[in-house]
Amino acid sequence: MMNTIELKKLFKEHFGYDEGARIFFAPGRVNLIGEHTDYNGGYVFPAALTFGTWAAAAPRKDGTYRLASANFPVTASLTTAEEITFRKEDDWANYPKGVLNELLLLADEKEIYTGADILFYGNIPNGAGLSSSASIELVTGLALSRLTGQDIEMLELVKLGQRAENRFVGVNCGIMDQFAVGMGKEGHAMMLKCDTLDFEYVPVKIDGYKLVITNTNKRRGLADSKYNERRSECEEGLSILQQKLPQAVNLGDVSLEQWEQVKDSIENDVIRRRVEHVITEDDRVLSATKSLQENDLEEFGRKMKQSHESLRDLYEVTGFELDTLFEEASKVEGCIGTRMTGAGFGGCNVSLVKDEAIEAFKEQVAKNYTEKTNLVPDFYVCEIGDGAKEII
Ligand code: GLA
Repeated sequence: MMNTIELKKLFKEHFGYDEGARIFFAPGRVNLIGEHTDYNGGYVFPAALTFGTWAAAAPRKDGTYRLASANFPVTASLTTAEEITFRKEDDWANYPKGVLNELLLLADEKEIYTGADILFYGNIPNGAGLSSSASIELVTGLALSRLTGQDIEMLELVKLGQRAENRFVGVNCGIMDQFAVGMGKEGHAMMLKCDTLDFEYVPVKIDGYKLVITNTNKRRGLADSKYNERRSECEEGLSILQQKLPQAVNLGDVSLEQWEQVKDSIENDVIRRRVEHVITEDDRVLSATKSLQENDLEEFGRKMKQSHESLRDLYEVTGFELDTLFEEASKVEGCIGTRMTGAGFGGCNVSLVKDEAIEAFKEQVAKNYTEKTNLVPDFYVCEIGDGAKEII
């Protein structure tokens, strides 16, 4: 956790002053169920974490933006007068640059963007699938819009963050991460329909249990290209189904009953399995949310496990490390639900564990996982926090 005094101190170390600096925060997220459904117009059920990215930001008058990080050595400096482009060597700074670029595209009067100094600090494990990039995007969007005196709505900043990721960074993600990071609420998960963006806050009341995130600590090589491959497999499946179900705009529009009737029209086994995952996962989000609302945690946990099995067997995005965590977590008494979270191919698992079993869970899972993978996992007992906000 970082407090405002420490952040202002870091800001001063980098920029030599701290007058006028304001502090903004955007969390990471964990998805409880509903994976690879967002870009299919389906349901997801994520929550914001209390880890995140802080930005200390002060306005400038000369049109220059200076970006620095307390985590990484790379800094960037750019001006509104020049073309803002993606540069590999700018590394993490491409995210805030992408957001600034989108803000400028949106603005009627670009002159309000007169420059800023921003110091970022984050404590989300990088590349772990807990949305560190969406967190940087949202904290930048919030800081820059507020420094210029604009009150751009959070939902607009959410969409803008996704556009920055899609068009500037070049990752073809859905809306879930930016939405969860922007719109999160302490103690609640969000049951979101990703095509209409209709959503509901659902209290995560799990008395006697905790959500424990376990990081595989596996490098996620090739994840982006595999992700895009899955997206196009879904598109292919959709176009076949549309011959029978012309009213379906997304796979998220196809009910389980309809699927049972039309699934044989997809001859390619791989495509059929991908689509089957999406349609059954969508249904699981609805029933799991209902179980949570009815306080039936055992059933919620079973749905988490079914979600993992579907991502493993049908969607094939888990891999040895995530599957090992799933198996080892499932063996621990008092762990009633467990699954991979995020895009997959490494990253994190999330488990629902009885309070008194948490220590044994960490010990047993760590020991057996390391034996099998030679990797040392990290554990975080998850607290559900608020979405992006200014810290006053
Ligand atoms: C990544 C993407 C999200 C979503 C998940 C899978 O986190 O950024 O949009 O597609 O993978 O559910």
